Amino acid sequence: MKNSKPSKVRLDKLLGSLGYCVRKEVAVLLRDGVITHIDNLSLKSDTKVSHEEILYEGEPLDPPTGIVILMNKPLGLVCSHDDGEGRLVYDLLPPRWRMRDPKISTIGRLDKETSGLLLLSDDGALLHRLTSPKHKVPKVYEATLDRPLQGDEAEIFASGTLMLNGEKNPCLPAKLTIIDESHVTLEITEGRYHQVRRMFAAVGNHVMALHRSSFGDLTLGDLKEGEYRLLDLEEMTN
Ligand code: URA
Repeated sequence: MKNSKPSKVRLDKLLGSLGYCVRKEVAVLLRDGVITHIDNLSLKSDTKVSHEEILYEGEPLDPPTGIVILMNKPLGLVCSHDDGEGRLVYDLLPPRWRMRDPKISTIGRLDKETSGLLLLSDDGALLHRLTSPKHKVPKVYEATLDRPLQGDEAEIFASGTLMLNGEKNPCLPAKLTIIDESHVTLEITEGRYHQVRRMFAAVGNHVMALHRSSFGDLTLGDLKEGEYRLLDLEEMTN
């Protein structure tokens, strides 16, 4: 997230970017008193304003561009913008947020059948930084396995030599912590497609349930399934 000073932009551009309406509708919303100035100054569509000056239906505007959302993703929701794929993680956010420009996207993905910590943002540079393999952000997954561990998995995962089906390069070293013979946590720094499930498949096991409990220094804290919160700049130090 950028820590820039609030800048002034055209009112219609501001409201359009936050998904309130299309720019040409602003004149009507002004006429009807839906959009007002906090000090009752007169406004036109092209008036240059800052975010904090404007009220919509008497309420402060949604957070400005540059947001990061921490969500506790429930099972069954899809990390996609395509409605055809079923219920989407974006359906948990206020409907207006689907219309924002820049668009809010997930930072990496969790499978439909994976729950847990999911980050979303409209900040393209941040999205790039946190998903780039170069940055090696550690992510911790809790997995329930179909079969008891054989005993050599931690060593194999840590070795940096594990090859996944159809890939050219081995997985980077990953840290397996054994809770009991069919429950583990796995810390990985990459984000390959279905990586955790494929790593266990590569050692002859099968992941029955998967939950992401942390991303960098971030954890879910008290967030219940399906809940989300906006992150502060200081929380995004990774
Ligand atoms: N690895 C997986 O297999 N699935 C996820 O959703 C995330 C990591």
